[in-house]
Order: sequence, then structure tokens, then C-alpha cells
Amino acid sequence: MISKKMITAINAQINKEFYSEYLYLSMQAWFADQNLEGMAKWMDAQGKEERLHVMKFFNYLIDRGAKVKLTAIDAPPVDFDNPLKVFNMALDHEKLITKSIDELMDLAIKDKDHATRSFLQWFVDEQVEEEASMDRIVNMLKMVGGDGQGIMMIDRELGQRIFGVVNEA
Ligand code: FEO
Repeated sequence: MISKKMITAINAQINKEFYSEYLYLSMQAWFADQNLEGMAKWMDAQGKEERLHVMKFFNYLIDRGAKVKLTAIDAPPVDFDNPLKVFNMALDHEKLITKSIDELMDLAIKDKDHATRSFLQWFVDEQVEEEASMDRIVNMLKMVGGDGQGIMMIDRELGQRIFGVVNEA
């Protein structure tokens, strides 16, 4: 039996995953405006992944006979300074999401809700990937500093990302 508290917490997580999609869409728009098409493409794929996360939680609530309650999504930032700051912000955001998933897992353990624990394990593992890929990009950007050629090289690499392919940077 899924608890009311867990249903509320998963609905809140749906909002956070939607916000993640919004945030990465806004970053995509900023990169496109800067003519960094590879980074824009990377963010496009990232935003689409977030929608998949939304739908996993959404469908889980429906499967458990619980009510999905969609709430207003906060507006993400629109202006960013430079690619390093964008990816640093994305990494910080993923750390917050990891904390939020961990709290859901803590609640599932407390509730002895084995089905939700099993469901959440995918997200626990996914967050390791999410943080690792952001962290890798942050490190690459730190290495090149503000060097234009280095940024263009990273832009080209990130443009290789194909939506649906896991574990790429
Ligand atoms: Fe849905 Fe990027 O975590």
C-alpha cells in the first residue's frame, strides 16, 4: 500500500522533473543564441530525458491507483554568463535532484513500501550517471578556460549526443 505521504512526495518530484526539463530547455535556448549548437543539442537531449523521468513517476502513480496532481512550474533563469557557469548550474541542480530522490527512498524504506523502493532504485542509479556526465563536462570546460578554440572543440563533442543513448557526455 502506497502512503499518502509518498503520493504527495512523488507528485512533488514530478514537478521537480518538469522544472529540470524547463531549466535545460532554457539552457538550450541560451546556447543556441550563442551559436553553440553542440551544447544546445546536448541540452535538448537532456531536457527530453527529464520528460522521460516525469512520465516514469506519472505512470507509477497511475499504476498504483494514486492521483497525479500537476502543479505550476517555476520559471527557470533565462540569461547565463558562460558555458562553464551553465554546466556548473546544471551539476548543482542534479545534486539537488539526487538529494530529493534519496529522500523519496528514505520514505519508502520507512514505509516498508517495497514496490516503491524497487521503482526508485532506477532513479538512484540514474542520478549517478546524471552527475557524472555533468561533472565530466564541467571539468573539460575548466581545462580549456575561456579559450575559444577549446570551447568549440567541446561544442563539437557534445553535439554528438544522441537522445536515448545512455552514458554519453
Ligand atoms: Fe531527472 Fe536529471 O534528473
